[in-house]
Amino acid sequence: MAMKWLQIAGLLAFLTIHVYADTPANCTYEDVRGKWVFMIGSRGHDRTLDCSSFDSPLMELQITLDFPDLAVDQFGNTGFWTLIYNQGFEVVVGGEKYFAFSLYKQDGQNITSFCDQTFPGWSHDIFGRNWACFIGRKAEEQKPKQTVVLHEFEKVVSNRLYRHNAELIHQINRQQKSWQATRYPQFENMRIEDMIKMKGGRKSTIASIPKPAPVTPEVARVAKTLPDNFDWRNYNGINYVSPVRNQGSCGSCYAFGSMAMNEARIRVRTNNTLTPIFSTQDIVECSEYSQGCDGGFPYLIGGKYAEDFGVVEEECNPYKGVDGKCSTKPSCERHYFTNYEYIGGFYGACNEELMRINLVKNGPIAVSFEVYDDFVHYKGGIYIHTGLRDKFNPFEITNHVVLVVGYGVDPATGQKYWIVKNSWGDSWGESGFFRIRRGTDECSIESIAVQVEPIL
Ligand SMILES: *[C@@H]1O[C@H](CO)[C@@H](O)[C@H](O)[C@H]1NC(C)=O
Ligand SMILES: *[C@@H]1O[C@H](CO)[C@@H](O)[C@H](O)[C@H]1NC(C)=O
Ligand SMILES: *[C@@H]1O[C@H](CO)[C@@H](O)[C@H](O)[C@H]1NC(C)=O
Repeated sequence: MAMKWLQIAGLLAFLTIHVYADTPANCTYEDVRGKWVFMIGSRGHDRTLDCSSFDSPLMELQITLDFPDLAVDQFGNTGFWTLIYNQGFEVVVGGEKYFAFSLYKQDGQNITSFCDQTFPGWSHDIFGRNWACFIGRKAEEQKPKQTVVLHEFEKVVSNRLYRHNAELIHQINRQQKSWQATRYPQFENMRIEDMIKMKGGRKSTIASIPKPAPVTPEVARVAKTLPDNFDWRNYNGINYVSPVRNQGSCGSCYAFGSMAMNEARIRVRTNNTLTPIFSTQDIVECSEYSQGCDGGFPYLIGGKYAEDFGVVEEECNPYKGVDGKCSTKPSCERHYFTNYEYIGGFYGACNEELMRINLVKNGPIAVSFEVYDDFVHYKGGIYIHTGLRDKFNPFEITNHVVLVVGYGVDPATGQKYWIVKNSWGDSWGESGFFRIRRGTDECSIESIAVQVEPIL
């Protein structure tokens, strides 16, 4: 065991952590599922505990992560676990929570994921007390996974300024009638690299997103009782959605999508008595659960960060849209949230009807979806990916976080859609919002929705 520990410590020591979008780890459900040993350091710390160079485990705990979300510790206590995209996992068992990113090593474009090991992670009890650092290692060694990130273009090209492709816009509008495309002058002075960040970053080049889970008869029965059209911007004449914002050229969509959810859910819970706008810069600068302008995930931000550290209001750290040292005023009041989860209970359990039920009952929900070349031109209508590529601007498919605020059915065509709040300013799309086909997992939008509850 000590040998093993030294090997991991040695590996950590020479890792060069060069993160350009989320983390480049690519660990799937099957990679992570199985028997783990958690090597845990001293407890009794508070949330200021720095785990970045943790190397002093005091005890070991064996935990089995089983199908579909069952965690069992060595004493037979049962709990819960979920994968978080392809980045890491969270476990709740024996009254303790554990979260860590999966271990990877990066050497230029060569990335090796060690899905049977984690970086130092954070553990604390379910009430946020008694923090400890830990490292996870699977009981049986697995083969490392090699990923070569083959970017379709070089940095030189991605430093180029974006120029709209008139032919693409024309083609979109000619090929289909569901939605309309337009040119956005505000994008023309952005570098292609910045546009990629705006669209969610380079993460989805290594993603494997689950298909929506089957709808059970019970869920179908509840869903039948819901209205055909629902919109939190106009629920009995009242708007519960905070204003549209603009993330600029920082890959902070996850912070905007998450805070849009947390803001709306406070409005829903308090009937608009409380209407805070939360600081996304605080998340970009201060959260260790995300990668600043290089990406992050609603489960870890609107959820876990808001539970463990709380979020502050905008004036405590106004948005700058660049990475930096944590400059949030320490005197600022922090707002807390709890019961964060992937809708359906764990990563891979989501579907359209569960999303509708949660949306109507609890408020808007954070989702992520695949952004293709045609999407940036969206002007109005119900978006369905056309398959058309932008030959002039070498984009990659990206994964972008946004907020579902409602749903409906087009009276003319019968097409079902989601109503979604974006963070590209209110001159984009339908006053900053878009509609997208519903019921077909369009661009994976029904696969990994997240919910959270405010603590008032
Ligand atoms: C990536 O790995 C391959 C195979 O191990 C090796 O041939 C290549 O030189 C590596 N490239 C970089 C940039 O490290
Ligand atoms: C990530 O892992 C999945 C499943 O093992 C695989 O299908 C996918 O190709 C991997 N992505 C990359 C970029 O290696
Ligand atoms: C919620 O607010 C609206 C508008 O201020 C008010 O008309 C309504 O009575 C409130 N509902 C409750 C349950 O207090």
